[in-house]
Amino acid sequence: MSKRIAVIGAGPSGLAQLRAFQSAEAKGAEIPEIVCFEKQSDWGGLWNYSWRTGLDQYGEPVHGSMYRYLWSNGPKEGLEFADYSFEEHFGKQIASYPPRAVLLDYIEGRVKKAGVRKWIRFENVVRLVDWDEKAKKFTVTVQDLPKDHCYSEEFDHVIVASGHFSTPNVPEFPGFERFNGRIVHAHDFRDAREFTGKDVLLVGTSYSSEDIGSQCWKYGAKSVTNTYRKAPMGFKWPDNWEEKPNMQKVEGNIVTFGDGTTKKIDAIILCTGYKHHFPFLPDGLRLRTANRLATNDLYKGVAYVHNPALFYIGMQDQWFTFNMFDAQAWWARDVIMGRIALPESKEVMLADVADRVAREDAGADAHDAIQYQGDYVKELIEETDYPSFDVDGACEIFFEWKDHKKQDIMGFRNNSYKSVITGTMAPKHHTPWKDALDDTMESYLQN
Ligand SMILES: Cc1cc2nc3c(=O)[nH]c(=O)nc-3n(C[C@H](O)[C@H](O)[C@H](O)COP(=O)(O)OP(=O)(O)OC[C@H]3O[C@@H](n4cnc5c(N)ncnc54)[C@H](O)[C@@H]3O)c2cc1C
Ligand SMILES: NC(=O)c1ccc[n+]([C@@H]2O[C@H](COP(=O)([O-])OP(=O)(O)OC[C@H]3O[C@@H](n4cnc5c(N)ncnc54)[C@H](OP(=O)(O)O)[C@@H]3O)[C@@H](O)[C@H]2O)c1
Repeated sequence: MSKRIAVIGAGPSGLAQLRAFQSAEAKGAEIPEIVCFEKQSDWGGLWNYSWRTGLDQYGEPVHGSMYRYLWSNGPKEGLEFADYSFEEHFGKQIASYPPRAVLLDYIEGRVKKAGVRKWIRFENVVRLVDWDEKAKKFTVTVQDLPKDHCYSEEFDHVIVASGHFSTPNVPEFPGFERFNGRIVHAHDFRDAREFTGKDVLLVGTSYSSEDIGSQCWKYGAKSVTNTYRKAPMGFKWPDNWEEKPNMQKVEGNIVTFGDGTTKKIDAIILCTGYKHHFPFLPDGLRLRTANRLATNDLYKGVAYVHNPALFYIGMQDQWFTFNMFDAQAWWARDVIMGRIALPESKEVMLADVADRVAREDAGADAHDAIQYQGDYVKELIEETDYPSFDVDGACEIFFEWKDHKKQDIMGFRNNSYKSVITGTMAPKHHTPWKDALDDTMESYLQN
């Protein structure tokens, strides 16, 4: 097979793509030539923690949005690779909410075993992707950062796996320019100890707000306040945590909320989400979508309808993560290798997108959203040889997780669940999350 494939990014999505091709090769198939471009010096994407914020040593925007002491916010049983279990990797079953370093080790384990590192060009950032309609080829222009050298190569397919939680959405509120304290977006938050003893305000009601607020609480913030636009998160918060309607203005250190009340605040953390941002793609190839389960313009959530030689992996909002990226990567691989045929007409692909959007919109709540994404994962894996697993069982685990959060927001990580891959029950972690200040892998694995 003489095709050449470019994969942009070596995070969980890009690595899923490399593993998908390698697994076909291991079964005896002839696979295309794969080149993966990764702007960081190592793999793992967001899971590859960086202390840096702003620009990196080359002047590139820092990709990392993860922070010290981050633990998985969902049970690991919802994201387990169907072809590489936690037990295979760690030699035993481990507790259900691993810290970042443990999950990075697990992500790495599978791709080390697969031997795909040779396909990755690290510290090579993609600058531009161009499509030649006549030749039916992409030209990918890349900068080798250490060599400070730009070069271009041709490819038959491009797979964009560059993530969408790295370019912050940064709103401004009246008075920000005169606030007597630190204003930071979640993307640049690194260490909760910076806020020990402080009155911290978090804007937003989603996972960053909930988790960064919880971090600040755990590491000794004096108080936590978070603001909402639509509705409060409504968990049973600790005594020094309150929810307030959206911020109206800031004067000095005094914040006024939507209900007219005020509070002295030392630091503001904007947990206001991220933008799908592809500065290396021209208008005709660039995905424009909100952060949702049914994205715009992706047939089966993967193939770009306006040019289906181009694929996007992991562009959805995420309940399912690693196993969904796998399902998408195996499916994209099979289209490229001629095992799955795309519809010939763009109208048919657009109708598929419209149907997905309508079905997502018809859902009433998080329960429906989880089931919707579970059904999507099932749909894709049924079309490939990705090992089948109990996706509905994984949905059940997510439903239980939601209940556990409702019962005890600072204690939900003390629960454990049964693997849908190996059927083994996870042990309880040795220390309750709120007391576990050491998040090293060595400490976590001492069960
Ligand atoms: C704070 C935070 C916490 C999270 N916690 C969890 C969790 O607990 N559990 C969970 O399952 N998910 C979590 N997620 C979701 C996360 O999106 C996925 O787990 C996963 O990292 C997505 O993988 P990805 O490969 O699509 O993107 P990323 O992990 O973002 O990787 C993209 C890669 O592309 C590279 N890249 C980008 N642009 C270029 C370019 N132009 N050229 C070359 N390379 C490029 C980047 O350097 C990066 O390595 C979290 C997300 C955030 C922001
Ligand atoms: N420990 C962990 O594992 C962990 C921790 C943090 C994040 N994450 C992951 O990171 C990803 C991103 O989560 P996220 O919370 O950063 O983003 P998000 O889910 O997109 O949520 C963005 C939030 O910002 C609010 N918002 C946006 N613009 C606003 C504005 N102008 N004014 C006020 N509020 C505004 C939104 O409010 P509306 O609802 O009103 O639109 C929403 O509450 C998720 O996949 C999550 O799972 C994981």
